[in-house]
Amino acid sequence: MIATDMVQESFARCNLNAKFIDVFYENFLASNPMFAEMFAHTDFKQQKELLRRGISMMILYADGNAVGRLALQRLGKSHGKHGMGIPPAMYNFWLESLIKTVAQVDPRWDHYVEKQWRDTMQHGIRHIIEEGEK
Ligand code: HEM
Repeated sequence: MIATDMVQESFARCNLNAKFIDVFYENFLASNPMFAEMFAHTDFKQQKELLRRGISMMILYADGNAVGRLALQRLGKSHGKHGMGIPPAMYNFWLESLIKTVAQVDPRWDHYVEKQWRDTMQHGIRHIIEEGEK
């Protein structure tokens, strides 16, 4: 299990900022020229809420929670080789975009918060990729 207390608090501060997920998608789409096309037909109003929930599930999973595990299993299936076929290397763009975003949005960002976000998200990403390869 991974310490998630600082991530939970940081995520709560980020969610107080109505632009949090918008800033994430700006950073994410700008991080790789392939992404704009992949999200060309996406309903972002819906997608933003889904992503917010997705991040919560990543935190729950790192906490050892069974609902989090199931949610990431499902994400692995939808993003993996029998689903959208997202190449595993793309998750690094996702992680770096999220880190960049939280650094911009969380007023109490520091290196300890960053380390916990990275550990927590890496743990979930590994599980999503593993499930997606099955
Ligand atoms: C841990 C990282 C990620 C999380 C938590 C996440 C979360 C989600 C969620 C919750 C959805 C809604 C559909 C579903 O539940 O399957 C979704 C859709 C999608 N994701 Fe991800 N995702 C992640 C990484 C990525 C990456 C790295 C890419 C590609 C570069 C990607 C591309 C997409 C696309 C194209 C959709 C469909 C959007 C649409 O409906 O038009 N995701 N993602």
